[in-house]
Amino acid sequence: MKIPSEKLDEIASLSDIVDIISNYIAVKKRGKSFLAVCPFHPDKNPSMSISQEKQVYHCFSCGASGNVFKFVQEYEKITFQEAAIKLAEKAGIKIHTSSLKPDVSNEITLQYEINKRAAKYFYQNLKTLTGKEKDFVYSFLKKRNISLRNVLEFGLGYARNSWDSLLNYFREENEFKPEDIEKAGLIKARDNDSNDSSPLTGYYDRFRGRLIFPVFNESGKVVAFGGRKLFEEDITAKFINSPESKIYVKSRNLYGLNFSKDFIRAANSVILVEGYMDFISLFKSGVKNVVASSGTALTEDQIKLISRYTKNIILIYDSDFAGIKAAKRGIELILEAGLDLGIVSLPDGEDPDSYINKFGKDKFESEVFNKKSVIEFIANIYEKENKLSSVNEKTAFIHEIITYIVKIPDNIKQTFYIKELAEKYKLYESDLLNELRTQKKSTKPLSKEYKAKEDISITQNKKQKNSDLIPALELELIELFLNADSDTLDFLFEKVNIGLLTNQYVLEIMKKFNDDYANEGIIDISKITNHFEDEKIISILTSCATEKFHLSSHEKDNKYGLLTNPSKLKTNYMKFARQIIRQFREKEIEMEIEMLSKENDIEKIIELRREKKKLQSELK
Ligand code: CTP
Ligand code: MN
Repeated sequence: MKIPSEKLDEIASLSDIVDIISNYIAVKKRGKSFLAVCPFHPDKNPSMSISQEKQVYHCFSCGASGNVFKFVQEYEKITFQEAAIKLAEKAGIKIHTSSLKPDVSNEITLQYEINKRAAKYFYQNLKTLTGKEKDFVYSFLKKRNISLRNVLEFGLGYARNSWDSLLNYFREENEFKPEDIEKAGLIKARDNDSNDSSPLTGYYDRFRGRLIFPVFNESGKVVAFGGRKLFEEDITAKFINSPESKIYVKSRNLYGLNFSKDFIRAANSVILVEGYMDFISLFKSGVKNVVASSGTALTEDQIKLISRYTKNIILIYDSDFAGIKAAKRGIELILEAGLDLGIVSLPDGEDPDSYINKFGKDKFESEVFNKKSVIEFIANIYEKENKLSSVNEKTAFIHEIITYIVKIPDNIKQTFYIKELAEKYKLYESDLLNELRTQKKSTKPLSKEYKAKEDISITQNKKQKNSDLIPALELELIELFLNADSDTLDFLFEKVNIGLLTNQYVLEIMKKFNDDYANEGIIDISKITNHFEDEKIISILTSCATEKFHLSSHEKDNKYGLLTNPSKLKTNYMKFARQIIRQFREKEIEMEIEMLSKENDIEKIIELRREKKKLQSELK
């Protein structure tokens, strides 16, 4: 679906960001800026800064950021389109929603459409089954305690035990090309050389004779399917899943989040389970703050996703060996992300689905209530293996525990864990702190300056995508572009050597600035954020456009204090621009010297050193 961009401009011009955000949360004026307690992460401080002038917001604590559309979209958990329609209504602008046909010329929209259609087909299949097949499938549902209401609620379906049932459905519909259906992962191309027993040439169904779980993204669109086998004689895997695609990246998806996100926020905690059925059984029993990792070991992206809703994670793991191994990696990542963690281990052989069906919701909730800390969890593993009696064994245990504690970014939290450990095992806190310090030294992250240096020496075609590596200078440059008058902009476009930018995001932003300035003669950040899909880019832009009341990471090494003192910046764009260009030249010289020193070109090096000195004295 697409709303024409002129329409979007009209909506934006009639939807003041401060007014709109004030409809949702309390906003206070401070100087030229507006501040609010960010609704996208648990907080008491007003970390969200809103710029009325630039029509963007940015949270300096969690990084949530964007323009007015984005705020409504995120707050209400709706699509961009829906947010725009909402704002249009408010502003009294008419949009003919009926004329907004999905724009299937866009590959992503097309994939969503195909998946949606397939999900409907699988669902209809399940509803209209007859005869023996029906008896068989429905008895499975009954055995698993899934009612027809649950089928509807979670969009479950059935893939017929046939090679071409979905394929034929799409053929009859004749709306999508087989190649596109294949890209969505629903059908597979037949390998003509093989002795494949499928009777068809061309394509065949991926999912056959399976219960279908549509996998949704955060906003409730079907992005993939999981199929559980139903037939005894089926010798293929218990689950078959859609392959990854443009709209489905497994490591970034959490099954069920679209259903549970508001409950997670309300409970301010999330229960992390493994399987589709674990999610469904908990959710329908009333334990609603739950998501499933769908059998993969927890990833960093999944943790980031969930931390937008809560910082309190409750991990439920299978107590078998593989389960423990997967849990350990998850624990590390959760601690590294600075989140709070509790761990529940269910009795041997039970998963959340079987447990809640056997023992009920209350018992399940008391298991969650009695969750263990990391220390207790690891200690239990040692105890279970009978490895906690000798001094050596205890030492090994303490070492392992501290490898987790060292990952926690918050020193105060670390101290709490150390205290817990000392009390429990009657140890001296000072010994534990020593061990912590030793491990800290050996796992010390690269220092900031070191990273920055590394950036510069990276060759131009090896740009960094990691936003942590954006040098302060490049951020200052963006900030200047967003504020400067046209004389300064002309000067900058002429002088900035784009080849010296080390960060891929900054490069993309600069390209967009350049295009917009050339085509429209202005750089309008609120519009520009519509153009980018990457959250990181939007966050970089809005953080440069809003005033900072919290120390953000790059302020510390801002040499000239211009960023932290906007009034100084406002009056002196050109001066600031010259300084920045000089600093870039300084970097360039450093790179040139590095190269020349390999060739031993002393004369040239001395000349460059001289120029560098001169630049430095000018900068003072
Ligand atoms: N999984 C998978 N592929 C497999 C096995 C498992 O993708 N071959 C994923 C599925 O998302 C599944 C989860 O891992 O839901 C957990 O797997 P498992 O515990 O084996 O299955 P359950 O969900 O418990 O399924 P059931 O209760 O029906 O046996
Ligand atoms: Mn199970």
